[in-house]
Amino acid sequence: MIGLRVGVLVSGSGSNLQSILDAERAGRLGPATVVLVLSNRPGVLAIERARVAGVEVEVIDHRAFAGDRASFERALVERLLAVRVDLVVLAGFMRLLGKSFLEAFPGRVVNIHPALLPAFPGVDGQGQALRYGAKIAGCTVHFVDEGTDSGPVIAQAAVPVLDDDDEKALAARILAQEHRVLPRVIRWIAEGRVVREGRRVRIVGLGVSAGSHLRSPEPEDEA
Ligand code: GAR
Repeated sequence: MIGLRVGVLVSGSGSNLQSILDAERAGRLGPATVVLVLSNRPGVLAIERARVAGVEVEVIDHRAFAGDRASFERALVERLLAVRVDLVVLAGFMRLLGKSFLEAFPGRVVNIHPALLPAFPGVDGQGQALRYGAKIAGCTVHFVDEGTDSGPVIAQAAVPVLDDDDEKALAARILAQEHRVLPRVIRWIAEGRVVREGRRVRIVGLGVSAGSHLRSPEPEDEA
């Protein structure tokens, strides 16, 4: 089987990147391989995680482009195309990507967001949910379009918001779900099971009553 070549974009701690790399090593990423990690920030833990895993990693610092977003995006695209990336995964990547980037990878960019979209898009999804007083929070993996966290939803997982939660506790609970959902979506895409019909996304072969909302525990967790 020809593998799906994955490029992962990061900006920070890279725990989602780690979940992808761990899944790949454990054979849970299907026919997908992480071929490149790009960080827009130097010195972040995500870079070290890639190095430890032996994955090619590079910093493309957005600050070096002095506000010229098009040039920054061109540099990212160039690097990703040079290693023939099929799928771009935004795993805690904190820059918005525009038309020129998305046109280089049409329908091939996914993002993980720490909220149940369409609620609480943009920065600090967890804090937004807490301040709003939501009782259920969670995470979403979605295709990226030109809006902010507005592309078609691929999968979501929910967690309760507890009365004594602070932002840190809620973010940790959500993050644990992110680490389950994101590698799974990459595997589904690599296996050709993700079918897009307008805004609706179907995962082929999950079973009659299943959807890509993740319960806990999930039979597939053990797979
Ligand atoms: C994750 O919670 C991710 O959902 C969020 O940043 C965190 C990155 O953690 N992303 C966004 O808010 C994107 N708008 P990580 O670096 O440990 O994977």
